[in-house]
Amino acid sequence: MSTPDTVRAELLARIQSSDQPHEVLRAPELRALADEIKTLPPEQRANAGRALNELKQALAVAIDERQAVLDDAALAPIDVTAPWDANSKRPDLLPTEYGSRHPISVELEHIIDIFTRMGFDAHESRQLDDDWNMFGALNFPEGHPARDGYDTFRTEEGFIPPAHTSTMQNRVLKDGKAKLEAGGQIASISYGRVFRNEDVDATHEHTFYQQEGVFVSKDATLGQMLGTLRAFFEEYYGQKLAIKTQPGYFPFVEPGLEFLIEKPASIGGKPGDWLEMLGCGMIHPNVLSAAGIDPTKYRGFAWGGGVERMIMLKYGIEDLRHFESGKLAFLRKFA
Ligand code: PHE
Repeated sequence: MSTPDTVRAELLARIQSSDQPHEVLRAPELRALADEIKTLPPEQRANAGRALNELKQALAVAIDERQAVLDDAALAPIDVTAPWDANSKRPDLLPTEYGSRHPISVELEHIIDIFTRMGFDAHESRQLDDDWNMFGALNFPEGHPARDGYDTFRTEEGFIPPAHTSTMQNRVLKDGKAKLEAGGQIASISYGRVFRNEDVDATHEHTFYQQEGVFVSKDATLGQMLGTLRAFFEEYYGQKLAIKTQPGYFPFVEPGLEFLIEKPASIGGKPGDWLEMLGCGMIHPNVLSAAGIDPTKYRGFAWGGGVERMIMLKYGIEDLRHFESGKLAFLRKFA
């Protein structure tokens, strides 16, 4: 008959050589010992049971020690400088090609580069915001129908995944106030994801990207804004462009405009193919005041518009839905 002592020596040895030491707790020898106890005369059972429990505890300690050794060994040989497949035990499960940067990341970098060279700083917008930054600070009165124009999502707690990058305006203005009052200017770009409760089709997405500019100085003008936007778009598309504006309504600018460019012949445009690229205008005095900036001393302009739309025009992409689809056939075109 096996005794706890002979089983102990055998199982401890097995733990030391096992890759899965906890499996040893299921060894048939342990079950056999437990079964034997039931066959013992009643007066011997208590002692035998105690011996078995003591054995199981000793095994558990040995298992933990062995597992720690295995865990350390599993970490040790990883060479982070090696090619991505060098450390894998299952190379058959690894991807067979390298990924690439998403076209939105690549193009945003280009957009930010142009604006930073023009003297703007740039920062990413938030992906969760509140009613004040989405509406209140932007001169949307409580209950104003213009709030409905944004098809805004809301969380159960009342937070808002921003429907436009203009949610950054109040922060940008407050942050820049000291600079302005020291005789400088605010020149800032916000960029990032925005969300609208839209029915999705080739030109509408629930999730897309915007870029937004805010400029404030003692004497900013609409002419400066149009010059800035023209320079930006001509640099982005690498050619001279015809531009025009038409009236547009946004509570946070006055006057408010839509900025259009004529689709260049080089990408299949005909004269009169005007495309609306963004909304813009002179920052409303109430928006400056909401950030503690005196609208009788300072003036500003702002613009904001979709990033995908710019990229679609640049590359002749027909369907906005490609960008969020994750489809490799689309992404490979930009690799
Ligand atoms: N936030 C506006 C929109 O998404 C665009 C805009 C930005 C208009 C800044 C004017 C000034 O519709």
